[in-house]
Amino acid sequence: MKLRSMLISTLLCATLAGCGYIAVTAAPQKKATTARTEAALKADALFWDTLHGAKYDQIPSALEAVTGAYLANPSDPVTAAHAGWLHIWRLAESARRDAVPATITDDAILARRYFDEAVRLHPGEARYLGFLAGTTLAEGNIHKDEKLTRKGYYQMLDAVDAWPEFNLFTAGYTMSRQPADSERYKQALEWQWETLDVCVGEKINRADPGYAKYMSLATTEGRKRVCWNSWIAPHNFEGFFLNMGDMLVKAGAWQAAQKIYANAKLSPTYAQWKFREVLEQRIRDAQTNVAVFKAADLAEDKTHQRIMVASTFACMGCHQN
Ligand code: HEC
Repeated sequence: MKLRSMLISTLLCATLAGCGYIAVTAAPQKKATTARTEAALKADALFWDTLHGAKYDQIPSALEAVTGAYLANPSDPVTAAHAGWLHIWRLAESARRDAVPATITDDAILARRYFDEAVRLHPGEARYLGFLAGTTLAEGNIHKDEKLTRKGYYQMLDAVDAWPEFNLFTAGYTMSRQPADSERYKQALEWQWETLDVCVGEKINRADPGYAKYMSLATTEGRKRVCWNSWIAPHNFEGFFLNMGDMLVKAGAWQAAQKIYANAKLSPTYAQWKFREVLEQRIRDAQTNVAVFKAADLAEDKTHQRIMVASTFACMGCHQN
């Protein structure tokens, strides 16, 4: 047996890229730990305070704590993922800044690296997989690296299979910056509809997508919890419909968008949601926003309304307390 594997190694050494390939493939896997260090728990607390408190300016100090905890224990998938989330938040809401530096794109690369680590340490966590796919797509787009983009796309399809209620949304949201009449954009919007279908367990009526009759399905447990509000995402429900309305407007379907936006108001905590003014303005401006959203989500001009993914509340629309 030993002789045989030595023989195979020698053969591979000679035929493939050489011994380097074998050495890399044979390197030991990192082992995950579920034990959390004191530093990791402290970093968690700062992480949640920063995210739920919408303290975008506090991202550097939260990252310092989370990265420090990660370096002290690089086998902890939760800490690795938190580092990824802080980086992607900083990039996602960069519209908050007066001037967006070119180096902001480094956050996509770092986020991708940390989610990659988190997925390897905890392959069964499909939310990590969705964010790994999203950040890989972002990185592919930054470098105009079509191979990487395709890799991200297929990772995303795997993530959708692993947890459709969560990752159909993630997939569509990530791709909502695509040009309005592209196939990818149509797919992205289709995924939002499918999110609703899997959340309610039937095909939702697209001509009349009123959600009132489904409100009794709300849960904070199991896979369907991600369809509703929770401690993690206190206004997920409202944010979901805000984004989906924006995506419909961008596709030109502004009347359907008005119905979808209105579903956000069914949330029992709608009155506490910081972005209800935004939503109500969106309902009023739905028709005029068609041209605005089609044209401008990549433009630097800050005077107009921007589709949610390109807005100052791309994450906070769901996660701010
Ligand atoms: C449409 C609403 C929505 C948007 C937008 C959104 N999220 Fe989430 N997020 C969720 C939901 C739902 C979950 C899963 C909650 C659960 O697992 O119960 C989640 C999970 C998370 C978690 C996991 C926390 C944990 O450890 O369990 C983090 C962190 C997070 N999101 C950060 C972000 C960041 C950063 C952005 C912006 C790039 C973002 N989210 C955009 C709804 C949203």
